[in-house]
Amino acid sequence: NAEEKMNPFAEQEAWEEHQIGNIIFGKATLKYGSKNKKQAADDYQFVFEDQIDFIKASVMDGDNFDYEEMEDALEKSRAKSALEALQEERKKLPIYPYREELLQAVRDHQVLVIVGETGSGKTTQIPQYLHEAGYTKQGMIACTQPRRVAAMSVAARVSQEMGVKLGHEVGYSIRFEDCTSEKTILKYMTDGMLLREFLGEPDLASYSVVMVDEAHERTLSTDILFGLVKDISRFRPDLKLLISSATLDAEKFSDYFDSAPIFKIPGRRYPVEINFTKAPEADYLDAAIVTSLQIHVTQPPGDILVFLTGQEEIETAEEILKHRTRGLGTKIAELIICPIYANLPTELQAKIFEPTPEGARKVVLATNIAETSLTIDGIKYVIDPGFCKMKSYNPRTGMESLLVTPISKASAMQRAGRSGRTGPGKCFRLYTAYNFHNDLDDNTVPEIQRTNLANVVLTLKSLGIHDLLHFDFMDPPPAEALLKALELLFALSALNKLGELTKVGRRMAEFPVDPMLSKMIVASEKYKCSDEIISIAAMLSVGNSIFYRPKDKQVHADNARMNFHTGNVGDHIALLKVYNSWKETNYSTQWCYENYIQVRSMKRARDVRDQLAGLLERVEIELTSNSSDLDAIKKSITSGFFPHSARLQKNGSYRTVKHPQTVNIHPSSGLAQVLPRWVVYHELVLTTKEYMRQVTELKPEWLVEIAPHYYQLKDVEDAGSKKMPRGEGRAQ
Ligand code: CDP
Ligand code: MG
Repeated sequence: NAEEKMNPFAEQEAWEEHQIGNIIFGKATLKYGSKNKKQAADDYQFVFEDQIDFIKASVMDGDNFDYEEMEDALEKSRAKSALEALQEERKKLPIYPYREELLQAVRDHQVLVIVGETGSGKTTQIPQYLHEAGYTKQGMIACTQPRRVAAMSVAARVSQEMGVKLGHEVGYSIRFEDCTSEKTILKYMTDGMLLREFLGEPDLASYSVVMVDEAHERTLSTDILFGLVKDISRFRPDLKLLISSATLDAEKFSDYFDSAPIFKIPGRRYPVEINFTKAPEADYLDAAIVTSLQIHVTQPPGDILVFLTGQEEIETAEEILKHRTRGLGTKIAELIICPIYANLPTELQAKIFEPTPEGARKVVLATNIAETSLTIDGIKYVIDPGFCKMKSYNPRTGMESLLVTPISKASAMQRAGRSGRTGPGKCFRLYTAYNFHNDLDDNTVPEIQRTNLANVVLTLKSLGIHDLLHFDFMDPPPAEALLKALELLFALSALNKLGELTKVGRRMAEFPVDPMLSKMIVASEKYKCSDEIISIAAMLSVGNSIFYRPKDKQVHADNARMNFHTGNVGDHIALLKVYNSWKETNYSTQWCYENYIQVRSMKRARDVRDQLAGLLERVEIELTSNSSDLDAIKKSITSGFFPHSARLQKNGSYRTVKHPQTVNIHPSSGLAQVLPRWVVYHELVLTTKEYMRQVTELKPEWLVEIAPHYYQLKDVEDAGSKKMPRGEGRAQ
């Protein structure tokens, strides 16, 4: 045929393009079938405009035109145009017009406080601006986040904006998960992780900029970081320090950092209509669900953000909402329910950022994480029940609890503000105006004043900071809490009588876990069961998401769970059995399904375990197995958790040995029906009662043997009176 014979190298631009167009269109039609000519035409148009040179070259080479190659090219140019679109989006952020001014301020000042509304682009843009301005040539840029989820999701976003693979130039580092590489220049990390980096690199030499982000959250780690970065900024004049915050009380940060200048990013803000309830709500969860549905049925388009206190509550709300929307019939638009909380798997987190399809409405059920750390576009309605889960700590008893607590006025304002980001919004507060004005505190108490400080004290001690009373705290912790932390660390033999770090303490500090847990690990050397103990530690750090209990299969699930408790070995050993059985099946997913075990949690436990094994090597503890000697394993556990011992009472409840308090075995424990005389527990949780979770039986004489400086014989005096009826040996 005549066309074939024509010289493809002839300078007939129009012909070439026509010809190539035909090929592409033809191939695309083949791919999509003749029915989808539009898609084919789109591909054609796309390739034609973007990839014409590439295709031309491959056709001109005389190759057979390769559709796969074109697909590749197509993929590349799609990515390129997505990237271009993202670049356009970046320019629309409130921070963009201030780019040059901000960079100038960073050049002029070593420490800068930056204030801007949530969503203005602080977290995602500032590190990129600094990179574009060349700061990464001198070292990495660290940006700290109080929350794991925020660190991960922001890093993912920034890697997209920069068109690089997550973990390469842009990465994140959270406890037990390091998604960075040699290439990494922008590192998003939890504040706790940066704190740990000081241990290996006290001057943070590999960083050129440290951005302490979400400073207003005042987490424990952020507060400690303040003191440490302020200190190193004095002898590292080349280090730039940015303190960024979403709320306006930036003066406090500025004062603390020797009157550092404040850079304000004017935000876009639309009016938000605030609605209070007329009378207090008896059941805020139900009220929140009802309000969501009312908004959905009666209000114009726009997504809803509901603030709840935790995963369980969110899951309950999700279930009820699903159930109730089913009853609404087909006339009502679709309601897409998106949960978001710290433990939500990464794949599912992405869902909240997906644009809501036309005609549908999204309802995001979130913890406090959506208050300032995450920006979700399209929110027009906020439902604020007025509560959050907050840690509180009793320095006298050393008990820590996570309680549902009323939020502060500052939080309530932040929450309301989430609805007015892209247009006028509405906030529905499920409490009265009277409550708001009279019952809520102005600001949330910083975590440092309501938490156990043992971990932080150990970290500071290992950084060589001995005089904790004179550490430069923005708000000092209660002296009693500091003292309590020192006492505990002394009891665990991490500190000596002079308050100096011991060899045990130095080893403990290498493990990114709480001191009692790290002591348990370090003690396993003595009992030659480090192999078992790190499995247990890994399983404990995964939390309470190992077993699941579907509503319709509770009996099966409970039976499966109890299989691991044969012989009343206690919860710790049961966790070990779960881990080992899974390992024996070569980490089988099927096995997890059959045993009502969450495979995701198990995989995480495996990762954590691998890291703990690496750390063992670092502190030169050999990995030794002693699986047949359960007492050795229990003694290791007791070496770390002896302050958590309790003794059975006549009425079936327990009493903690030191600082007596009534506690109970959690119903989910394998020992809940067994009620051993003496137990050691992992943690206390307060629900309807004060419950001990993860419980193991112990012999009281172990307490005196393992912690003679902490327990005396009189504390455990019914030890030798086993013939006495239960309870009679009780002192007092
Ligand atoms: O830190 P700040 O609250 O000032 O804002 P940001 O987190 O940098 O967010 C800026 C914009 O990036 C938001 O408006 C979102 O549209 C977008 N973003 C996103 O799409 N996905 C994320 N994971 C984070 C931000
Ligand atoms: Mg931010």
